[in-house]
Amino acid sequence: MLEELKEVNLYIHKKIDTHKKNNLEILNELELDATKNFVPIISKDVREYLKFLIKTNKDIKNILEVGTATGYSGIVMAEEIQERNGSLITIEIDEERFKKAKESFEKSNLNGIKQIFGDATVEIKKLEENKFDFIFIDAAKGQYKTFFEDSYKLLNEGGIIFIDNILFRGYMYKEFPKRYKTIVRKLDEFIDFLYENYEFTLLPISDGVGLVYKK
Ligand SMILES: C[S@@+](CC[C@H](N)C(=O)[O-])C[C@H]1O[C@@H](n2cnc3c(N)ncnc32)[C@H](O)[C@@H]1O
Repeated sequence: MLEELKEVNLYIHKKIDTHKKNNLEILNELELDATKNFVPIISKDVREYLKFLIKTNKDIKNILEVGTATGYSGIVMAEEIQERNGSLITIEIDEERFKKAKESFEKSNLNGIKQIFGDATVEIKKLEENKFDFIFIDAAKGQYKTFFEDSYKLLNEGGIIFIDNILFRGYMYKEFPKRYKTIVRKLDEFIDFLYENYEFTLLPISDGVGLVYKK
């Protein structure tokens, strides 16, 4: 969450807690698990924005997710495309998280979810037979440009790529620990690259959401 937006975010989170209950119990379980085991899942405001975007874009049927973690955001997105007979393909590099996500997806009873275990820089390239209407990028920040370029090729015209945490904890514009220097530089260059070459917009939701639209 960006420091400057903390107060407004607290207000929004409170309202979300009051008015937007999860439909599926597994999502509440995963929220608790994420807090307990430090699993970095999407924030509640990103969750609501993701849901809203997918719900209101009725053409979104096939979704690709880069970075499954324990399956939280995957379930949130898959719920929205059930009535459209849609599909979600989701990629995770960490074996323990991949297995935990498998259990979560089973508990959710949702249809159309396919998991891939592996490195997305390798796995996305193998999906060339597939086309997606919506791509959610939420994995290693230093590889965002690679994830983006590989997956953009698989995006249908009219499709959207949603990039989470693109302002990386606010480190893009304020002091950051030295060890993050390369990631910050890469993300900053990536943001310029997106502005210069794509239909792109940057939103201060959570720690930054980037949206790309393919004309
Ligand atoms: C921020 S978490 C994803 C959270 C998830 N989208 C959610 O909100 O429920 C990022 C995940 O990406 C995975 N990851 C990192 N680099 C990856 C890569 N190259 N390929 C696939 N997964 C990767 C990490 O292991 C981690 O579980």
